[in-house]
Amino acid sequence: MNAPLKGLAVQAPSYVKNAKLLAWVADMAALCKPEAIYWCDGSQEEYDRLCQLMVDAGTFKKLNPAKRPNSFLATSDPSDVARVEDRTFICSANKEDAGPTNNWMAPAEMRATLQPLFDGCMKGRTMYVVPFSMGPLGSPIAHIGIELSDSPYVAVNMKIMTRMGKAVYDVLGAEGEFVPCVHTVGAPLQPGESDVSWPCNKTKYIVHYPETREIWSYGSGYGGNALLGKKCFALRIASNMGRDEGWLAEHMLILGVTSPEGKKHHIAAAFPSACGKTNFAMLIPPAGFEGWKVTTIGDDIAWIKPAADGRLHAINPEAGYFGVAPGTNMQTNPNCMASLDHDVIFTNVALTDDGDVWWEGMTDTPPAHAIDWQGNEWTPAIGRETGAKAAHPNARFTVAATNNPALDAAWDDPKGVAIDAFIFGGRRSTTVPLVTEARNWVEGVYMAATMGSETTAAAAGQQGVVRRDPFAMLPFAGYNMSDYFQHWLDLGKKLDATGAHLPKIYTTNWFRKGADGKFTWPGYGENMRVLKWMIDRIEGRGQGTEHVFGVSPRYEDLNWTGLDFSTEQFDTVTHIDKAAWQAELKLHAELFQQLAHHLPQELPATKAAIEERLAA
Ligand code: GTP
Ligand code: SPV
Ligand code: MN
Repeated sequence: MNAPLKGLAVQAPSYVKNAKLLAWVADMAALCKPEAIYWCDGSQEEYDRLCQLMVDAGTFKKLNPAKRPNSFLATSDPSDVARVEDRTFICSANKEDAGPTNNWMAPAEMRATLQPLFDGCMKGRTMYVVPFSMGPLGSPIAHIGIELSDSPYVAVNMKIMTRMGKAVYDVLGAEGEFVPCVHTVGAPLQPGESDVSWPCNKTKYIVHYPETREIWSYGSGYGGNALLGKKCFALRIASNMGRDEGWLAEHMLILGVTSPEGKKHHIAAAFPSACGKTNFAMLIPPAGFEGWKVTTIGDDIAWIKPAADGRLHAINPEAGYFGVAPGTNMQTNPNCMASLDHDVIFTNVALTDDGDVWWEGMTDTPPAHAIDWQGNEWTPAIGRETGAKAAHPNARFTVAATNNPALDAAWDDPKGVAIDAFIFGGRRSTTVPLVTEARNWVEGVYMAATMGSETTAAAAGQQGVVRRDPFAMLPFAGYNMSDYFQHWLDLGKKLDATGAHLPKIYTTNWFRKGADGKFTWPGYGENMRVLKWMIDRIEGRGQGTEHVFGVSPRYEDLNWTGLDFSTEQFDTVTHIDKAAWQAELKLHAELFQQLAHHLPQELPATKAAIEERLAA
């Protein structure tokens, strides 16, 4: 098998000295049969050249440089717009190690399935060798990956999203370890066949082998399916590394919040996909919070490790943001808008007549005319009549973290930042109150484990249906969810035993709706009011009221300066409806039934205690 390809010697640059890497690239080239191999060096010159190549091929449109310098728009195949959870597999040796929440196939069977798909999959295309580091280059917490991809879109996105380039080979050396990531759009070109602007395949496989730490991705060019450093590596594979080595890989933003007195806290928050991480991480405190400052360490992924000081330290393994465009505007997220001024790759937003971009919610008044993400004429009237969106609801921007005016000075500090609190927040139009503090670690783990959230456009499939999304990790936990709960409980116990001060745990819900069907809570910058209450609690001065699940603020416990929000509105977003919670607890029971194997007994015990309090 895998006879060397005639005429395609793997001529690596002289600085690539890792024998395992060279052998693997040769094997993969023999399997995928690309027309050429290109070793990315990560330079700006290379980035510009690949972008121009995609402009020439019709994949990229260059935006008007007077409006948005050095920025591009890609529009995808209409079938390739989001993560594909039902095509994502954790192929552990034993099925129970993947657990009931992951798709599983035996590794040998999956390898046999993928072999004919990958055989010749890159014909007529260039295979890009993309070296990247998740975490600061050379830091002891960072990990190296090499992605082989036949998509130049992936190569340029990886340059923004990771530390990508030839310096990775210095760290890797001759013997270093890397996570091998193979990606193909699954659209080989026959001789003379012309390419399409967004090649992909109806058949898709996003495959992880946790034991051998490998990633194989077939058929999609989009986001988390294709930029393999992100969800595949930094969450699914890294969660396995973390379990083995005693740390956490989480779907969390990390922010710093500094008081007018100069005291700084760090918060890590897990919200499911398209539920507000990027926005919370870039929050600008509103009127009434003069002198407060929020700074961004990360917007999507946190690697969290117990440090010598007995505290949990978090780093952002990424170097850029692959964020949701719709809903982003100068009111909701000015820091994000400023980040998008230049050097951005947009995917699936609309193109305006002056060569700029637009998406739903970007401005109050839509452009009179645009080309929508599918290449069709779009006007507000067409939108009204046909329901056509100018931008896809999961349209995204890719931008370097260094574009963010609120970037924290410690954002790439290898030591990370010490976490004071964790937040878990779903998108729930009913039932779940604005904010609750867990009374202890176990109750916090219970809240996180049982979190429900309405599905969003970030994943293919039905939207707006409530599902359990434990720790916002349902699509990203690379091993058995019950074992993952146990890992969190064990870590808490371990830290506690050292006398460490454990981070507090909160749940939030910015998305409760009133009788008018609209969000009652203003959200975005106003979430500072809740954040401040948490800090008051951490500092031991915040007041609240204890209820069946934990502690929540009363109206008078929040600072309302600068916001007109009535006690009635507050009640709408905070009240605990007994019947709704009885129904909710049935859903917790269903989850626990599904996860019965290895389910830590603390969780059903916590549930029983809540039920008792609810019945009282
Ligand atoms: P992923 O990148 O998919 O992991 O998403 P994310 O968690 O970073 O979500 P993001 O901050 O991009 O927000 C997703 C959508 O929710 C956007 O349309 C936002 O405008 C909207 N959103 C974010 N925060 C709030 C909020 O506080 N209130 C309301 N109503 N909407 C919000
Ligand atoms: C998410 O879906 O949670 C994302 C976007 O952050 S993607 O990279 O496509 O997974
Ligand atoms: Mn995400």
